[in-house]
Amino acid sequence: MRENATLIINDQRYELPIVTGSEGEKAIDISQLRSKSGLITLDTGFANTGSCKSTITFMDGEQGILRYRGIPVEQLAEKSSFMETAYLLINGNLPTQKQLTRFSVMLNDNSLVHEDMQQFYQNFPRASHPMLILAAMVNALRSFYPELQTLEEEINITVTRLLSKVRTMAAMSYKISRGHKVVYPRPDLSYCANFLNMMFDSPVNPYQIDELLVDALNIFWILHADHEQNCSTSSVRMVGSGRVNLYAAISSGIAALWGPLHGGANQAVVEMLKTIDSDGGNIQGVIARAKDRSDPFRLMGFGHRVYKTYDPRAKIMKKMCHRVLGRLNRQDPLLDIAMELEEIALKDAYFIDHNLYPNVDFYSGIVLRAMGIPTNMFTVMFAIGRLPGWIAQWKESMDDPEWKLARPRQIYIGPTQKDYVPMNLRENTNSAKN
Ligand code: CMC
Repeated sequence: MRENATLIINDQRYELPIVTGSEGEKAIDISQLRSKSGLITLDTGFANTGSCKSTITFMDGEQGILRYRGIPVEQLAEKSSFMETAYLLINGNLPTQKQLTRFSVMLNDNSLVHEDMQQFYQNFPRASHPMLILAAMVNALRSFYPELQTLEEEINITVTRLLSKVRTMAAMSYKISRGHKVVYPRPDLSYCANFLNMMFDSPVNPYQIDELLVDALNIFWILHADHEQNCSTSSVRMVGSGRVNLYAAISSGIAALWGPLHGGANQAVVEMLKTIDSDGGNIQGVIARAKDRSDPFRLMGFGHRVYKTYDPRAKIMKKMCHRVLGRLNRQDPLLDIAMELEEIALKDAYFIDHNLYPNVDFYSGIVLRAMGIPTNMFTVMFAIGRLPGWIAQWKESMDDPEWKLARPRQIYIGPTQKDYVPMNLRENTNSAKN
């Protein structure tokens, strides 16, 4: 049965269709509102606006649910690999063994980065942030791999190129930043093992693959693989809506993810924990600052636009954090601080009233530290994980029969019409008056 919402403006009634999703979520379709009433809707930050219909990821922020193509993220983290999950997100179904093998072969075939691109790395100033370098390099891929003949071929090859090369480029940027020799991908290693090997292997100190860390990395990337219409994914869809190539769209996603309120939070959390540590463990001081409205400081790794309960990814990440540190028999003072901070915050009236719980970034940095990943690479790790989601969302938008160029409207609050008067004329008039 079709449902409608009735909007009454100055006694005029407007019937607006209600759209219902497969999990019962409802939205008022206001796409015809302006042509019927002359009005637009205003929703800063799109906090209550659906930008598309999607079949990829389901989130319920009140109940703490996250599913990729219907499968709970908890099950994927326990049973799947990052590449299988990437295939699921991009293609809609889990792969058969044959499909997965073919996918792995394609990833291996496309894992090398054009040697000429290595020179780019040398020309960035030493202190450049790896997210900046990654965004630039991904965009530059288009000049090395121009458009293919058919859209299908273009999509399939570009997708595998991106998944494979972004991982290689990330490890390469780390090696070059340290002045070390680049380690090339090995076809005999899995996606995650390959990454760790490219990051940490060296001629003087061969890297021993540790299955615990490979497993942890698989889970880390599965948990980051998609999160429906978040800031970076919306950027990918928005930039892509102008029908730009996939590399450029993904590059925009990387730039959007970099911010500390989004993917950059994992770096910001560790920096915050380190500051608490060096200040002698003043957790109460940090909590007080986070609650102080006159202070822009926020408790990093806490709060989420959608989750109003514990982020399901954070639960898995916290468990993994304990497992990795326990198995490596390693103490990390930052973990102790994080746990104490969480305990205090979850009992504090401010955090309870504002529904502020740890998000995925609260414990992820500690896991990455245990793997040996440097802090400035944390957000790059998030970006590699989010790639399948960005690609899946871009692909879905390309095939969307309801596709439209993304072009929000605004309410103008600037000056009304005034005449052009050059500044020097104004000054002369003013000085004449004086
Ligand atoms: N610490 C202290 N207060 C907070 C926090 C926080 N981390 N997050 C939100 N608040 C307060 C905020 O001050 C406001 O209070 P009031 O209503 O009294 O003025 C209220 O909660 C609502 O905040 P908001 O900014 O309107 O909510 P939002 O939905 O726009 O914020 C957020 C979402 C993630 C930007 C925010 O929670 C935040 O800044 N968190 C810290 C950064 C962080 O951890 N980001 C990672 C997000 S998860 C990774 C990802 O998926 O991108």
